[in-house]
Amino acid sequence: MTVLGIETSCDETAVAVVTADKRILAHKILSQVDTHAEFGGVVPEIAARQHISSLDHLIAATLKEAELTMADIDAVAATTGPGLVGGLMVGVMTAKALATASGKPFIAVNHLEGHALTARLTDDIAFPFLLLLTSGGHCQLLEVSGVGNYKRLGTTIDDAAGEAFDKTAKLLGLGYPGGPAVEREAAKGNPDRFKLPHPLKGKPGCDFSFSGLKTAVRRLAETCVSERGALYEDDRADLCAAFQQAVVRSLTDRVQRAVTDFRSRHGAKSYPLVIAGGVAANKAIRAALVKLATEEDMIFYAAPMELCTDNGAMIAWAGLERLLVTPTLNDMDVSARPRWP
Ligand code: KG4
Ligand code: ZN
Repeated sequence: MTVLGIETSCDETAVAVVTADKRILAHKILSQVDTHAEFGGVVPEIAARQHISSLDHLIAATLKEAELTMADIDAVAATTGPGLVGGLMVGVMTAKALATASGKPFIAVNHLEGHALTARLTDDIAFPFLLLLTSGGHCQLLEVSGVGNYKRLGTTIDDAAGEAFDKTAKLLGLGYPGGPAVEREAAKGNPDRFKLPHPLKGKPGCDFSFSGLKTAVRRLAETCVSERGALYEDDRADLCAAFQQAVVRSLTDRVQRAVTDFRSRHGAKSYPLVIAGGVAANKAIRAALVKLATEEDMIFYAAPMELCTDNGAMIAWAGLERLLVTPTLNDMDVSARPRWP
């Protein structure tokens, strides 16, 4: 089985073709980062217009690279939500048009389910597993027991982790997207010069909170400016290092609690601990979770870097997994859903 996947929920136009035996036949991403950078964040209307002008060409180029035509495709999957409604509509309508014209089913994919199942595309991971899904819009701990069988153990009560990276970068004048910029600065800085809170650390439950952290960084930056007349390079690097360290400590504390919760239902065996979403590209976060997994006797998995951030392969794969469970699936009556838990 071969599925074409389309992703247009945010600022990446992405298309891929994936097979049931886990081969990514082609995989193309057109990032709009440069377009949105001057605005310091994604402008929904501009994003939707760029998806319109890019998507047809990208689909053609992806099929060409895979040396396939629509006759070789068994289903067309597209991100149907959650995300920016304009972009979602472009992807969904294009996918439905392609599916209708070629007589194939359309599969509506939840963007988070795409991130959640990516590890099964790149590794042989069996259910159940514990998933830390952390991106620009979401920060959740999920128990994944099967395709469509997800139990949310925790979520953010304010900002997502990626959002906190982006906002921190913006307030320190590091541009957009913030995650990679903060990580680069953090590598040069001293994480212990500034004291930051470790949100919810030690508190019951597995929820997250990051907005207080960002506010604390802002206050410290203001203090630096008032004491030294400007925010210097070392201030910026030290603030980024402290911020990243606080995120790492908060995330690992929450994940550790989730492991205990997960084990209370599944027992003491070694289970996969999977990290997905754009923030999974962060090396310090990965390293901390690898260490935690070892200590907790869990098996750490992360998708390759280019499949951690938004891409078409994760959508094609999630569509394929859903189709394998329900071979008669056709979501032609499902519309774009900007909010879809
Ligand atoms: O999954 P993704 O591509 O899109 C969403 O669905 O949100 O994640 C993008 C988010 C952005 O907030 C970005 O700043 C963050 O992931 N990110 C990172 C890193 N690379 C991307 N955060 C921390 N460190 C990174 N290296
Ligand atoms: Zn995403």
